[in-house]
Parts: sequence; C-alpha cells; structure tokens
Amino acid sequence: MPRIVLGVAGGIAAYKAVEILRALTESGHDVTVVPTAAALEFVGAPTWAALSGKSVRTSVWDDVEQVPHVKLGQTADLVLVAPATADLIARATHGIADDLLTNILLTAHCPIVMAPAMHTEMWQHPATQRNVAELRARGVIVLEPASGRLTGADTGPGRLPDPTAIVAAARDALRRTPSADLSGLRVLITAGGTRESIDPVRFIGNHSSGKQGFELARTAVARGAQVTVIAAHVDAEPPAGIGLIRVSSGSEMHAEVTRLLPEVDVVVMAAAIADFRSDEVLGAKLKKAETPENVSLVLVPTTDILATIVQARVGERPFIVGFAAETGDTAATVIDHGRAKLARKGCDLLVVNDVSPGKAFGSDDNEIVIMGKGREVAVSRASKAAISDAIWDAVLAGFPSR
Ligand code: CTP
Repeated sequence: MPRIVLGVAGGIAAYKAVEILRALTESGHDVTVVPTAAALEFVGAPTWAALSGKSVRTSVWDDVEQVPHVKLGQTADLVLVAPATADLIARATHGIADDLLTNILLTAHCPIVMAPAMHTEMWQHPATQRNVAELRARGVIVLEPASGRLTGADTGPGRLPDPTAIVAAARDALRRTPSADLSGLRVLITAGGTRESIDPVRFIGNHSSGKQGFELARTAVARGAQVTVIAAHVDAEPPAGIGLIRVSSGSEMHAEVTRLLPEVDVVVMAAAIADFRSDEVLGAKLKKAETPENVSLVLVPTTDILATIVQARVGERPFIVGFAAETGDTAATVIDHGRAKLARKGCDLLVVNDVSPGKAFGSDDNEIVIMGKGREVAVSRASKAAISDAIWDAVLAGFPSR
C-alpha cells in the first residue's frame, strides 16, 4: 500500500484537504496527516485522526522514541502538501525545520507535490515566486494555483487547485516515482479547437476535444515541468498545476503563443487551429428571411502559427513539436502525409495522428507515429496519458544540450 504523508499548512483551504484525505484513503493509500500548528487552528486533530485512522502529530517532540521526524520522511512514497502556504513554501525552500512537517520535507527521498493556496498578492510576490522556482529546480512538483474567488471578496490566482485534480497529480507522481525528468523545463502547450466567427452566433469550428492537449499538460506537470496551456475550445476539465490561458480564435491563439515564446523551452502545438476563416465577420446575425437561398462564404487562410514560430526561431530554442491530423487517400498514406508535413513545417518533432472517422477525436485513447529528423517511433493504441508520456520521452531524447 503506497505510503503518503499529507502535510497540511495553515490556510483556510485546509478544510479542502479533508476531501483529499478521504479520496486517498478510500483509494487504498496509507495516509499519515501532518498538519502544522497553524493548520490545526482551521481543522482540528480529531478530524484528521478519525479520517486517517492514525494519531496526529505536529511537533518533533511528540512520540520522540519513534523518531517520527526522520522515519516518516524516509519511509514515505510521496509527500503531498495541500494547502502549501507562502510561509510553508518559504520554510521548505530554505531548509528550515521548525516543526514536524518541515523536518519530513528535509528527510524525504520520495517525490514531493505541493498545492499552493494563498492570496494573489502573496503568490505573485517576488519572494514566493523565487522560492517556487527554487523548489521546482530541485524537482519538487509545485502545482500552479487555480484562479477564482479567494477568501474575501477578491479574485485572482491563489486558490487551491480542485481536490480531485490534486489527487490525480499525487497519483501521477506516485506512478512515476522517482522521476521528475522534465524538471526545470518551461513548457507551452496549445490545446482544443479554435473557432472563427461568421456572425455573432455562428462560427467555423472543428471536432477537437482538447483531451490530448490536457493530458500532455497533466503528464508534464507530473514529470516536474512548469506548464502553461493556451486552450481554445475544450471538452475536458483542465488538470491541476498549470497556467491556463483561454482563447477562442486562431488570431488570439497566435498572439498568446507569440507573447509567451521567449519564456519557454518547449512548445507543443496540439491545438486544432482552423485553417480558414470567413473574410468578413458580420456585426449582426445573418437572417434567413433576408438572404438568398444559397449563401456563399468567402474563406481566407489563417496564419499557420506552427510554421511561423519555426521560421521566427533563432537557434535551437524553443524545441517545437507539431501535430498532424491526417487521413489517408488514394495518392498517399497517413505516414506519407506526415513526412511531407514534417518537411514543410520544419518543426523538431511531428506527432502524426490518423483522424479517419472514429479514430482520435473525442476518444480517450489514440495511436500515433512520432517523427523527428531522421527517426520515426510508432506508438500503438494506448491511453492519451500513455501517448503523452511517449511524446515527452521523445522530446527528452531529441532535446538539445540536456
Ligand atoms: N497549425 C497551426 N496554425 C494553423 C493550422 C495548424 O499552427 N493555422 C498547427 C497545428 O497546431 C498542428 C500542425 O499545425 O500542430 C498541423 O496541423 P494540421 O491541421 O494537421 O495541418 P495543416 O497545416 O492544416 O495542413 P493540411 O490541412 O494540409 O493537412
């Protein structure tokens, strides 16, 4: 049974850790809860003891004969801190060991996942940002906080990520023990299908669900990367621990990709971007009664973002991964189309998908070929999570100077 230490720091979001504890114990994990003294001001020791089935210790002076400050860290398979406050993050960064939880963080050999929760100002403060960057550089998986309503009337980034998503991130970290092989990498992923307006109610869109993009993000977080997702229209819940930017059209996506490009090491263009848009977007709804029977739309091409960023790149960074949605035809197979597209787009890797009816869109599994300059790897039908891990393996294998 995997052993998890659930560290709870002193923030109002401590009550949400109760739900995390229940989910972990009910799914067969052995959980020892280690609250800080401040956390006990929010949720009392009896709650943690009853739900974990274990006595609750906060100080290194409790049950000293069992040496818990060393044993718990050494024997854990995962340390999950939720919520991680600005103070706890600061103490962990600087190796301060003034209570049981911070002692455990110094003795743990296992993966450590932190789910921050604090006010926006505290999260954005340079001290916290420096501490988070330092922890990530050491391989700690620090999830991005969610955005939304905070304790008072204010809103912004700083909310504890959704408890279900935190549990998923903890499971991912356990599955990959002990590897955080993407740590230190800043990754930008585009996901979902763009929409190009025709009039205020109609648009040109596509069948992309965005699931593959979100799985890529979730698996990258689990492997220690710092992940930003630019999401167009997506039919899935975003994973915990990412920076999320929502867009709708191809031009909005292009603007965001261009803005973030100088700050990232890897770009994965998993979005399905409409190749055409209507040459004119009507300001008022096109009325049936006022239009002739046959209406023609004039379509003009959108910017090819992938080709544009490849051309604009100076040197080897960022490493750029494109996707190709292909169907075979009488003239060429899916693989032939993929090879031609790799040559045309000039990216470092191309993930080729067969999108013949019923194959990839909206489905939970997929089958791909990863093409790079001079090599091709076929990944047979597997979950989108396993496919994502294969893509990150290929990125690591092809990544310059790592
Ligand atoms: N892409 C892009 N900008 C566009 C269209 C596509 O950046 N305007 C990116 C996609 O995110 C994907 C890759 O280009 O990574 C390939 O997309 P795909 O639709 O398969 O290729 P196209 O360039 O549209 O080529 P074709 O329609 O001829 O297959």
